[in-house]
Amino acid sequence: MSETRRKAVRLTIDGRSIDAEEGKTILEVAREHGIEIPRLCYHPGLEPIGACRMCIVEITKPGWNGRKRLETSCNYLIEEGLIVDTQNPVVRKNRKMLLDLLLARVPDSDVIRQLAAEYGLHDTNFPKRKDADNCILCMICVRICEAIDVCAIAPLYRGPDRIVGVPHKDDCIGCLACALSCPTNAIPFEEFDNKRRIWEKEFDLVRCKVSGEPIGTPEQIEHFAKRCGLPKEDFLKSDSARKKETAAKDARLRI
Ligand code: FES
Repeated sequence: MSETRRKAVRLTIDGRSIDAEEGKTILEVAREHGIEIPRLCYHPGLEPIGACRMCIVEITKPGWNGRKRLETSCNYLIEEGLIVDTQNPVVRKNRKMLLDLLLARVPDSDVIRQLAAEYGLHDTNFPKRKDADNCILCMICVRICEAIDVCAIAPLYRGPDRIVGVPHKDDCIGCLACALSCPTNAIPFEEFDNKRRIWEKEFDLVRCKVSGEPIGTPEQIEHFAKRCGLPKEDFLKSDSARKKETAAKDARLRI
């Protein structure tokens, strides 16, 4: 059966008239057209939650009689006639304020410092958090851990002391999904002597029998094999070894 085609919507972003498919967000459509909007808590594989507000844009519609409003573009769906401004002085001023607060939370984060500098901000006007790590509480790590059915990471404590952590270390499978998706590289991990260490827990590291590359931890392989209903052996080869095997098979078939 053919897929139902979505209705096309015409909107304006930064003065450009754009036709896009209904159901997409402003951020998605902007990116598809090469218009960059800063984003911190957005992850393409997760439902947007509009937590960091870095992706704010100013919107208006023909029937609003000139009234304008700031909205987070990562979770605002496009509409016919929508007029979006991603970089005007109001938007930039609000993003600068958010960055000022973020700089106070994570004064040593290179990602936030660089973004702040793009808005002319080189230091925060607020008191800096003491002994600060680089966590901006975007919750991507918590949500990605939930999305793969591990649920090991959770927000801990309240107010300015709020952090994310692994309350029960046994739950962590050492898969690195959290660390590799963190926008500010706030989750440290290391690999050494066939071991991986993350969240203060040490794992063995399984290597591909063909290429010798690290594949993952035994806990990670077991979890994903069970989750996909496949034998563990299917997970014991690295991507590059698998690609080589497929290419060799293809070549044999062509002879
Ligand atoms: S990226 Fe949209 S609110 Fe964080």
